Amino acid sequence: MTSVDDALLAVDSVSQNFGGVQAVRDCSFVVRSGHVTGLIGPNGAGKSTLMEIIAGGLRPTRGRVVLRGEDITGKLRSTVGRMGLVRTFQTARVFPRLPLMENLLIGRQVQRGESLARAWLPPLWRAQEDELRARAEELLEEVGLSHRRDALGGELSGGQMKLLEIARALMANPTLLLLDEPIAGVNPRLVDTVVAVIERLRGRGIEVLLVEHNLSFVGRVCSDVIVMAEGTVLAQGDLDTVRADRRVIDAYLGSA
Ligand SMILES: Nc1ncnc2c1ncn2[C@@H]1O[C@H](COP(=O)(O)OP(=O)(O)OP(=O)(O)O)[C@@H](O)[C@H]1O
Ligand SMILES: [Mg+2]
Repeated sequence: MTSVDDALLAVDSVSQNFGGVQAVRDCSFVVRSGHVTGLIGPNGAGKSTLMEIIAGGLRPTRGRVVLRGEDITGKLRSTVGRMGLVRTFQTARVFPRLPLMENLLIGRQVQRGESLARAWLPPLWRAQEDELRARAEELLEEVGLSHRRDALGGELSGGQMKLLEIARALMANPTLLLLDEPIAGVNPRLVDTVVAVIERLRGRGIEVLLVEHNLSFVGRVCSDVIVMAEGTVLAQGDLDTVRADRRVIDAYLGSA
C-alpha cells in the first residue's frame, strides 16, 4: 500500500462544502506513479470538484492534498503549476477569437503565473517569445492540429478544442497532467488521437490522472481506476475489478 508521503499524489480526508451541498465527503486515495489513473463515477460524484481542489483552484473545507510528499492544500493554481501539476477543464476553455498560437501562449502565462512585467524587457522577451512560439508549434503538431494552425479557437470542432486545451496545458511542461473528460463530445475519429497523445505522454514519463465517463476509453488508457460516488471513494483497482464491485454496480444503477 502506497502511503500518503510516498505517493505521486495523495488526497487525504478531503471534504468540500458549497453552502448546504457536500460535494466531496472525507475522500481519500493515492495516485501511484507509472499509471494512467482514471477517476470515474456517476454525474455529481464530486470528480471535477476534486480536480479543482487538487489543481489549486479551490481550498477544501477539510483535508489535504499531497504532491510527491509536499502538502499543496490551498496553494495557488500558479504555484501548483510551477510544481508540475496542471489541469484541463471539462468544458474546454478556448479563446474563440484568438488564433491557436495565441491560445497556447496565453496558457503559458496563466498556468505558470509569469509576471507580465517580464514582457517589458525587450531582449529577454523576444528570446522567450521565440522559444515559446517554437514550443507551441511543436505541441500543435503533437496533438494533430498543425493543419489548423491558422484557424481561430472558435473555428475548431469540440474535439479539436479538447486537443488544443491539452496542448495549452503542456505549454507549462507538467509532470502530472489532470484531464477532465478529455473525450466528452469528441468525434470518435479524434478519440484515437487523444489516446495516442496520452500514450506518448506516458512514454515521456508524464503522469496522467483523468476523469472520464466513457468506460471503453478508460479501459484502453487507464491501468488504475478510482470510483467515486456521492463525494467519496467506493473502490480502486483495475477497471474489470472495480466494475465487478457490488457498491460500484449499485452506485451506477442508482444514478441511471
Ligand atoms: N461551485 C459550486 N457551487 C455549488 N455546488 C457545486 C459547485 N460545484 C459543484 N457543485 C455540486 O457538487 C456536486 C459535485 O459536482 P462535480 O461537478 O464535482 O461532479 P462531477 O463528478 O464532476 O459530475 P459530472 O460527471 O456531471 O461532471 C454536485 O452536486 C454539484 O452540483
Ligand atoms: Mg465533472
